[in-house]
Amino acid sequence: MQTMITADETIATLVNTAIEASRNAYVPYSNYRVGAVLVAKDESIYTGCNVENAAFSPTICAERTALVKAISEGRRAFDTIVVVTRDGGFPCGVCRQALYEFAPDLRVIIADLDGRLLHDTRLADLLPHGFGPSNLEK
Ligand code: THU
Repeated sequence: MQTMITADETIATLVNTAIEASRNAYVPYSNYRVGAVLVAKDESIYTGCNVENAAFSPTICAERTALVKAISEGRRAFDTIVVVTRDGGFPCGVCRQALYEFAPDLRVIIADLDGRLLHDTRLADLLPHGFGPSNLEK
């Protein structure tokens, strides 16, 4: 479901929202909870958690859960993603690529499940020389 962030909503609030999303993670195999909040350019936000599967490969990461929710609700331009894990892990390579498709300049904020801010970076720094839609334009 889409909600709007207000002008005074802080990064800390987004981190708390991501922590709440991580509580919905379905992680019987890894027990590694991930929560994400993707903020669209219009300030609507989309939460995501990881959803694992007994066959393993259908598992979807929190970041891509948030991304597909946003795309399916008509958003295609994004400003920021906040990702929380117990150890401050960065988005995996598949998620970096999936996000790069829509938001090569995305701000990426990493925090832990206690709300500690650990990194504030850009997708282009996590995925240098990324392959994207412009590669297929010519
Ligand atoms: N995971 C994510 O949700 N996001 C990432 O970027 C890294 C990995 C999930 C997938 C799996 O459910 C668990 O973390 C362990 O890999």
